Amino acid sequence: MKSATAVAARIQALRNEIDHHNRQYYVFDAPEIADAEYDRLLRELQRLEAEHPHLITPDSPTQRVGETPLAGFGEVVHRRPMLSLDNAFGEEAMGDFERRIRDRLKLDDEEKIVYLAEPKLDGLAINLRYVEGRLVLGATRGDGSRGEDVTGNIRTIKAVPLKLQGDDWPDILEVRGEVFMPKDGFEAFNQRAREAGEKGFVNPRNAAAGSLRQLDPRLTAQRPLTFYAYGFGEVDPAPIADSQSDSIRRLRRWGVPISPLHEVVEGTQGCLAYFQRILQLRDSLPYDIDGVVFKVDELRLQAQLGSVSRAPRWAIAYKFPAQEEMTQVEAIAFQVGRTGAITPVARLHPVFVGGVTVSNATLHNMDEVMRKDVRPGDTVVVRRAGDVIPEVVSVVPAKRPHGISPVILPTRCPVCGSEITKPEGEAVARCSGGLYCPAQRKEALRHFASRKAMDIEGLGEKLVEQLVDEGLVDSPADLYRLTLEQLSGLQRMAEKSARNLLDALDKSKLTTLAHFLFALGIREVGEATASSLANQFLTLDAIQQADEALLQQAPDVGPVVAAHIVAFFRQAHNREVIEQLLEAGIHWPEIERQAVDHPLSGKTIVITGALNRPRDEIKRELLALGAKVTGSVSKKTDYLLAGEAAGSKLAKAEKLGVAVLDEAALQTMLEHAQ
Ligand code: IVH
Repeated sequence: MKSATAVAARIQALRNEIDHHNRQYYVFDAPEIADAEYDRLLRELQRLEAEHPHLITPDSPTQRVGETPLAGFGEVVHRRPMLSLDNAFGEEAMGDFERRIRDRLKLDDEEKIVYLAEPKLDGLAINLRYVEGRLVLGATRGDGSRGEDVTGNIRTIKAVPLKLQGDDWPDILEVRGEVFMPKDGFEAFNQRAREAGEKGFVNPRNAAAGSLRQLDPRLTAQRPLTFYAYGFGEVDPAPIADSQSDSIRRLRRWGVPISPLHEVVEGTQGCLAYFQRILQLRDSLPYDIDGVVFKVDELRLQAQLGSVSRAPRWAIAYKFPAQEEMTQVEAIAFQVGRTGAITPVARLHPVFVGGVTVSNATLHNMDEVMRKDVRPGDTVVVRRAGDVIPEVVSVVPAKRPHGISPVILPTRCPVCGSEITKPEGEAVARCSGGLYCPAQRKEALRHFASRKAMDIEGLGEKLVEQLVDEGLVDSPADLYRLTLEQLSGLQRMAEKSARNLLDALDKSKLTTLAHFLFALGIREVGEATASSLANQFLTLDAIQQADEALLQQAPDVGPVVAAHIVAFFRQAHNREVIEQLLEAGIHWPEIERQAVDHPLSGKTIVITGALNRPRDEIKRELLALGAKVTGSVSKKTDYLLAGEAAGSKLAKAEKLGVAVLDEAALQTMLEHAQ
């Protein structure tokens, strides 16, 4: 049995250690131990405290989560009002902001204004009151003068210190900052909510707000909330420094987390450059920000400037273009892709979001439409983040007009009228029209002509559209029957372009079996699979005749792909198109198996990393020897040719025990051929 003092000492040591690791994690973003180790410390502390309950103190890291739900939140009158921020829209408004400051402070043009620049976090503002270094109150902003007492919930946020570090803090210190939910935590939380049949939240801000307003702190404790400080309420004795930036730095030393993106900048130019830097970072940050905030750094100047009604004159928010906006759904259309996949698309009343005007947003598939219950006439939240295609996030139920009906999946393809099928358990509905469907035909032709397929230069989307609409082309084989007259007759087609296209078509006739297979657009047969099939079977005939079991002997080909291949060749019209293409003169050099005694013949090789010779050239030589070149390393791989900076493939090969060749070793083996 340990002595009472030894136990007390151990408890104190554990608390210090846990607080230290909390700070390393939340304040310095530099964790020193694994989660499991942290949990072990916490468990030891919990055990000792359970055995010696009289040693429990409210600021112990075990005391974050209270046991009793509240009936409601108490009201808090803020000692100093919690202000809001004025917004600047555009560079000009930023110039105006600085000019107003100069006028008020009567500064000369030479005198530079220094600002503290920081991200504008998209969560909710809270006030943390520390008395003699201990957290005594956590309150929401409310209307700025009165907020709600959410202390019990705030205490569950590990980023919020229950006790300040050091001893040089003012007796009364109110820290203001933002509580927010990081993006990954938000996704995970929503996922869990959905699995439990609940609705989830529209965005991380709502999730943070909803979580802080839970009456049971045990629920708040399960939400992944975090906190960054950006300012002060009551401070006594004040001030703690001469500038905003130094005050914030002191907070950090007391163990309060601060955004690592704070920067001191000079003048409007400095502000604009900072804005651009953070805008670039926006999508890669682990949490949502909706702009940046600039604050005059010197506290003496802040005091001279003062505030107007609800916002200080010394600070401004420069907002990013919103990534989410509301707009109305005018209609829901159904698009048909190359493989017949039907994609529902919301036609929207045009809305400016994420920096562009958006009038269409994808709804991905029918399951998604049903889950979100989007209907024509609904007001929806549309999101466009970075370069991602715009999507409908959710419906705003309060704005739904009476009597609008849910969307039903059409039974017939909107383009060709063929039946639409949606196999049980699959998310994707498909038009069964195949190449009879003009939409699928257009997509199939575009794919056929693309660079990695038949590589027909100049045959792009617009031209395919025209050729199909004019009735000149139905199947890929028709392309090779086009005449100069027909082409020159098309709108916006000069004779020269027509000739160029005919030349390109002619040139495309010499291809490889792999390119040809890929061009056919068989479902699930991408570039790598096409080349694997070509290398395994050598001739088109062999592939056409292979059954599913035989097809699976090729690397990369599993049962699903094999079934698609067999189904494709079973269709009479596909076989007919192939025949016509071959008649039109499409051909490829025969792939020859080399003498069986060549060391590379029949071997499966993967190429990776940077090489001295073009990869295609090496590949051709290997194919000529009867080797197979595939895209990914597996147990079936015989060799990995690894150039400079080979990455994950090299690691995988080493793990699987696949022989690794460098370029010189391969060269020796190739020369063995002569
Ligand atoms: S300063 C005296 N700094 O924006 C100025 N606010 O629009 C008071 N916010 O209620 C706010 N990040 O919830 C400040 N770095 C930041 C901020 C920030 C987010 C929020 C805060 C405030 C709102 C005002």
